[in-house]
Amino acid sequence: MDGSGEMTGDSTRCVHSALDPEVTTGAVHTPIFQTSTYVQNDFADHLGYEYARGDNPTRNALQRALAELESPNQPAHGFCFASGMAAITTISQMLKQGDHVIACDDLYGGTVRLFDQIAARFGIETTYSPLKPGDLSQVIRENSKILWLESPTNPLLTVHDIRTLAAEAKKHGLIVVVDSTFATPILQRPFELGADIIVHSTTKYIGGHSDVIGGCLITQNKELAEKISFLQNAVGAVPAPLDCFLILRGLRTLDLRMTRHCESAHLLAERLQENGKVTRLFYPGLESHPTHEIARKQMNAFGGIISLEVVGGEEGARKFAAKLKLFATAESLGGIESLINHPWTMTHAAIPEKQRYDAGMTPGLIRLSVGIEDMEDLWQDLVNALDCL
Ligand SMILES: Cc1ncc(COP(=O)(O)O)c(C=O)c1O
Repeated sequence: MDGSGEMTGDSTRCVHSALDPEVTTGAVHTPIFQTSTYVQNDFADHLGYEYARGDNPTRNALQRALAELESPNQPAHGFCFASGMAAITTISQMLKQGDHVIACDDLYGGTVRLFDQIAARFGIETTYSPLKPGDLSQVIRENSKILWLESPTNPLLTVHDIRTLAAEAKKHGLIVVVDSTFATPILQRPFELGADIIVHSTTKYIGGHSDVIGGCLITQNKELAEKISFLQNAVGAVPAPLDCFLILRGLRTLDLRMTRHCESAHLLAERLQENGKVTRLFYPGLESHPTHEIARKQMNAFGGIISLEVVGGEEGARKFAAKLKLFATAESLGGIESLINHPWTMTHAAIPEKQRYDAGMTPGLIRLSVGIEDMEDLWQDLVNALDCL
């Protein structure tokens, strides 16, 4: 706790990152500093805190913990936002009219909506690409500024070869952004693969309990950190102290939870693969997944999300979801409880239909977020629902 112990394991890092006793009382955990402003001794003479949009001790603790988890061996800077989308918006605000973004073609619908319906209004254009080997050189332009990767992607769980893509993007001076929400700092280390900025929707696994919305950006690059810090204060999409506290509390058990999410999802995916009612299955841990080999090299485990189609297309999917008892139909993922989502009408509905089809999505696709319940109970629930089809 005093920083002198070794932090070699992920669980130790989750528990101890930015875990400093509070100075006035010795409270073990950083309290919720519920204040908007701080008293100054004289004009501009203060204890380092002026106004809570700019700085808050609860937020600072979370920011430090996130930076330490993503970058255990090198200094890094974390910045928290009111949502994952607020974090992503902040990156778009680093760009100017005429700039160009290259993004993977299978990604969260809200990110596509932001790029195409908001950033586009400010003259920032986005090209989507599957980013298979050789694709990047086809779409790169003189005004390209950012390579945007989501890995694994939402909802098809494509794992991008971050090292190869980042190396090529860097040759052209692009900033490489990796939305690592599905992987968390436990399953993959994008900085070691060449990422400049890591994005998380902390709403998901990092918060982990489906009770808070948040987002973060982390960078090792000082110049980028200064730009993000300026935008965080100047734009002001900051999280409330209570939300930071909840996310920090979730983060303490992230490694434990990820172990369970991954073990259960892997076993369930293997069993679903053998079930005749399942017509298409996506899980990066299965050899049948198109990017399994990259996932094996790049990730420590394969995550807690499974996407699939069942017999009967969209109608079958609807029936299946209705029969499940432990998987609640809801947006979001990464919480302790299992959820089922229909990307076509829910999380990805904002993407134009053709673009969804082109990226490999279908109206029959469903996405499971495997929670930390007992795996056999989850399996029984899935089998019961499949048997009804
Ligand atoms: C991969 C990914 N990135 C970003 C977001 C946006 O995060 P938030 O909902 O916290 O704004 C989501 C939300 O589902 C997501 O799945």
